[in-house]
Amino acid sequence: MSKITIIGAGEVGASCATSLAERDFANEIVILDVKRGLAEGKALDLRQSAAIKRFDTIVIGVTNDYAATADSDVVVITSGITRKPGMERSDLISTNATIIKEVSRQVAKYSPNSTIIVVSNPLDVLCYCAFKCSGFPANRVMGMSGMLDVARYKSFIAETLHISTKDIQALILGGHGKTMVPMPRYTTIGGIPIRNLLSEEKVQEAIQKTQLGGEEIINYLGRSGWYAAGAAVCEMVEAVICDQHRVFPVCAYLDGEYGYENIYLGVPVVLSKMGVEKVIELELDPDDKIRFDISQQKVRSTLEIMKSLL
Ligand code: 2OP
Repeated sequence: MSKITIIGAGEVGASCATSLAERDFANEIVILDVKRGLAEGKALDLRQSAAIKRFDTIVIGVTNDYAATADSDVVVITSGITRKPGMERSDLISTNATIIKEVSRQVAKYSPNSTIIVVSNPLDVLCYCAFKCSGFPANRVMGMSGMLDVARYKSFIAETLHISTKDIQALILGGHGKTMVPMPRYTTIGGIPIRNLLSEEKVQEAIQKTQLGGEEIINYLGRSGWYAAGAAVCEMVEAVICDQHRVFPVCAYLDGEYGYENIYLGVPVVLSKMGVEKVIELELDPDDKIRFDISQQKVRSTLEIMKSLL
């Protein structure tokens, strides 16, 4: 039996539920929202697609009824407000920290053995908030950001080179924001280092587009996107539920790794039934280390604001 709860039936939560149902590896998905009827309606709609999409996963929607989420294996937290044009993710901190604090406590009460995956922004800082407020060990609290950022990075590289995204391997370190650190040194296409195939100017262009990938969508829609985020978190949930030992970029707790302590940041990890089984530590060249440090400082400054709100 595997059970997944998604807190928040907004666009990201619904997109995540859709991806999960389509993969059909879980027994049950519970979607919970504070807005009356929202989760019930989306769950019903999704259930009605089962015969066409050919899945057997049971999808249930509830209004703020945490008892229905009890004993989940994985809980995805998508609650909170999203950015509007001109906003930074860190601008959401006071509203979303209050929400994540309460949600994490409820998750800990009803699903004490679950693994939490945070999707709400500011991502890195809200992972820390969920870690503290749930009281869970750090390996069972993580965030989805690197999977989305790497997917964006791959899409820009694929478009530039006219090649399949499937053949790109890539890595991004650091916080989920403009200071994120795409790593061309660890980007290959069919095993070939990216710099053998793309000029430095084009590599830098892909990096900048990735760093502003979320903003570009907000400028079109007036709010942040959901398809890629929902699909990205689904990959992580599957790795945990199915004990896949995948190597993914995940927002994980650092306890000295990369020289940082008591902070959540994007790093490569081994993801399994244990949650973050291992943080993979890489040698960074001086330039990458400087970029990672700038990103770390940016996350830490928002973290200090968050701590004062707890
Ligand atoms: C994004 O980058 C919402 O943070 C998310 O689109």
